[in-house]
Amino acid sequence: MERRFGVNVNPDTEILALMGSQDGLSHLAQAICNPGDVAIVPNPGYPIYAGALAIAGVTPWYLPLKEEFGFVPDLDSIPEEIWAKATFILLNFPGNPIAVRADDAFFEKLVGLAKQWDVLIVHDLAYSEMGFDGYRPMSILQVSGAIDIAVEFHSFSKSFNMAGGTPRSSAANREVYNGKTLTVKVRNMNSSGKVILNVY
Ligand SMILES: Cc1ncc(COP(=O)(O)O)c(C=O)c1O
Repeated sequence: MERRFGVNVNPDTEILALMGSQDGLSHLAQAICNPGDVAIVPNPGYPIYAGALAIAGVTPWYLPLKEEFGFVPDLDSIPEEIWAKATFILLNFPGNPIAVRADDAFFEKLVGLAKQWDVLIVHDLAYSEMGFDGYRPMSILQVSGAIDIAVEFHSFSKSFNMAGGTPRSSAANREVYNGKTLTVKVRNMNSSGKVILNVY
């Protein structure tokens, strides 16, 4: 994280190894939400976002990605009552299925709103290395103060052809990983350990 993004995270308390980011994305809602809670997810979005909410009994509030805004989510369109109710907002840049990207200004606004409403940001950065023509995707953790309110998922499968048996996917936000150790407990109940790869 430091070499690629210039972000310092503590490997003991702010990084969690997962079996692919899908592992974390599918378990997070079960770990930090109660049935009936609300989470904000993009529409269209990568299928596990809504699937994980269904498994956890969490009500999705779909944030549309509209052509008129260049498919960047319009944060101003989220009603205050949804901000007040939501446990987390999940966004994904560079996006899938729409390859949209966000800039510093967008992330700064998002961090400000999330702090104002005390809503956890979940940033899926699966395509962190998929930047071309001089563009390098950024980590939301590069925004000052984001680590207080954001968790970010990284993936080896896109950048290093290691789908499924991904021995890494990292994130940050100590409270989610330590204070709420449920994330780890839920994983332990559902999973049987990391895949060990033999590389020849
Ligand atoms: C946006 C997005 N997030 C997460 C994943 C899951 O990646 P992983 O292989 O790390 O589980 C994918 C896989 O296609 C994806 O497109």
